[in-house]
Amino acid sequence: MASRSRFRWKKRTERPLSYVPHQRRWDLDGVLPAAPLSAPTVPARSLAPGDEARVWQDLTAEYDARLLQAELVRRAPGFSPELELFLEAWAEDEAKHAAALTRLYMEASGATQEGVRARLDGRSGDFEPMASFLDDEFRLSVLLAYDEAMSTHGYGADIPFYASLGGTPERQAAFAAVLRALKNDEAVHYRNAVELLACRHQGRAGEIAPLMDEIVALDAGQSEYKATFLLDHANDQFDEPGMRRVASAVVRTLERRL
Ligand SMILES: [Fe+2]
Ligand SMILES: [Fe+2]
Repeated sequence: MASRSRFRWKKRTERPLSYVPHQRRWDLDGVLPAAPLSAPTVPARSLAPGDEARVWQDLTAEYDARLLQAELVRRAPGFSPELELFLEAWAEDEAKHAAALTRLYMEASGATQEGVRARLDGRSGDFEPMASFLDDEFRLSVLLAYDEAMSTHGYGADIPFYASLGGTPERQAAFAAVLRALKNDEAVHYRNAVELLACRHQGRAGEIAPLMDEIVALDAGQSEYKATFLLDHANDQFDEPGMRRVASAVVRTLERRL
C-alpha cells in the first residue's frame, strides 16, 4: 500500500508555479551536537515537573504536525499545487523540529529515545473543533499564517527558558541555538503562508478580519490542546490579549497583501 505519510493527492502539475515556499537549511547535528559522553551532563539532573511539561508540550505539538498532515490527506479536499508545496516544505521542517526537541528533551530530562517514542506512539488528534478550516484552502491558509506567527513569538519568548535547561554553558548556548533555529523556521512558515494567500487569494482582504476573530475565539476558547498541531496555546504561556496582538499584526499584513 502506498505510504500516506507525504502529500500525494494528485500528480504534481507540470506548469511552472510562481509560488515557491522558502526553507531554511540547517543541520541538527551542527546546531545541537550530541552531548559529549565524557561530560557529566544530564541524566544526573532532573527537570522540574513544570519545566518537563512545558518542553513535552512543545515537542508533542511539533510531532503532531504529522497527525495534521494525515488528517489533511484523509480529507483530500483538492488543494492547489501551491498549498501542496507549502505543506511539503512545512511538514519536512516540523518533523525536524520534533527531532530537535526530542534530542533536547532527552538530554534535559534523561529520558531515552525508546521512552519518548513509546509516549508519542498512538497519539491521535481531535480535529472536529477546527473541521471548518481543514476543507477550505483560504480558511486553512489564514489559520496557518496565524498559528505560525504565534509559534514565532512563542519560541522567541522561550529562548531564555530553554537555554536554562542546558547542563553546561556550552549546552545552554546550544539549546538557545535550537530555539532560534525553530523560531526562524516558524517565521519562514508564516511568510510562506502570507505569500501563498497573496498568490492564490487576491481580492479577499475584506474577509481576513472577521475570519481572524473566529480563529482567535477558537484558540482562546480551547481548554486543552487536542493533538492537532494547530492552536497549541491552551497553557500558561499564552493568553487572549497576546493572541489578539499577534492576530492583529497578521491581519494588517494580509489586508495589505490581498
Ligand atoms: Fe515547528
Ligand atoms: Fe511551523
